[in-house]
Amino acid sequence: MGGSIVGWGSFLPELVVTNQDFEARLDTSDAWIVERTGIRERRMGGLTSEMAVAAGRRAMDRAGVTGDDIDLLIIATSTPDRAIPATSSLVHSRLGLRGGAFDLNAACAGFAYALVAADGLMQMGHRCALVIGADNLSNVTDQTDRATAVLFGDGAGAVVIRANGAPDSFIVAYDLGVDGSLADVLYQDHGGYIHMEGREVFRRAVRAEVDSISAVLERAALKPADIALFVPHQANLRIIEAVNSRIGIDIDHTAIILDKTGNTSAASIPLALCEAADAGRLREGDYVLMSGFGAGMTWASTIVRWGETR
Ligand code: ACO
Repeated sequence: MGGSIVGWGSFLPELVVTNQDFEARLDTSDAWIVERTGIRERRMGGLTSEMAVAAGRRAMDRAGVTGDDIDLLIIATSTPDRAIPATSSLVHSRLGLRGGAFDLNAACAGFAYALVAADGLMQMGHRCALVIGADNLSNVTDQTDRATAVLFGDGAGAVVIRANGAPDSFIVAYDLGVDGSLADVLYQDHGGYIHMEGREVFRRAVRAEVDSISAVLERAALKPADIALFVPHQANLRIIEAVNSRIGIDIDHTAIILDKTGNTSAASIPLALCEAADAGRLREGDYVLMSGFGAGMTWASTIVRWGETR
């Protein structure tokens, strides 16, 4: 019934938008953005489906699987190409996959939610899942509003999970949550732009992540020192630092890419995970903790065991 992550891949659009680019057109500064967020540049452009196809193909190549091998596709996104049909339909067709496909919207917590959903469906008999986080938030951000424009970027990241006959699931523990009473602190109406109460989101995000991570560590009977790599949602370096210091996870054991990508919503965790995996930061048997929070307000944390031969 078990499975493992056997491939990963990511995609970022070519257009680099630096803090200096914003300085030139908005009442902001590189110093303000870096100090308050840690972001230095982000990528923009591209449809969610196109980015998802590119990341998905790279993950499949890395895993050495073809479309015929994959019997489940989940795309975590809150910026689908169209309201209907789901972006996963297009991606499924372009990658030539088999089996079912669906979109999952849990905002920036989407990828961690999707991993848990994929694991559950694999327990029910699916053999090989492609899980993608993809978003183009720049498209739904008012580029003249300094409070939000500097924060968001576009991208996609993907993993292939293949059944391996192991008795246990590759997910060691998970925690999913939502508090819909906070829906108004971060939302985007149809046809509108993202509205965000930044300070409130910041405060709630730290609390939600700390509680959620504490819960998964307890469920997994692990200590913070047992986590080889923490892959947090990449919204704000200060949020990551606040969570790390409260939980007791060293920044050296944390994957951080937001300086180069900004907040890419559901893509942020897989983008950071892919970069860490490509850099050789993950070894067989490592415990990897992923944790995200987002509009909803949603949150999700999961600890996975890295590697094929556990
Ligand atoms: N440049 C210069 N000044 C700015 C900018 C900017 N880009 N943006 C806001 N300011 C100003 C504000 O207008 C305010 O000015 P005032 O004091 O005259 O009113 C001042 O800076 C301070 O604003 P705050 O909002 O209090 O600044 P804060 O330190 O909280 O940082 C930020 C703002 C970066 C948005 C922070 O609150 C944050 O990161 N919040 C969490 C956001 C987040 O994680 N969102 C994603 C959630 S995931 C999802 O689902 C998409």
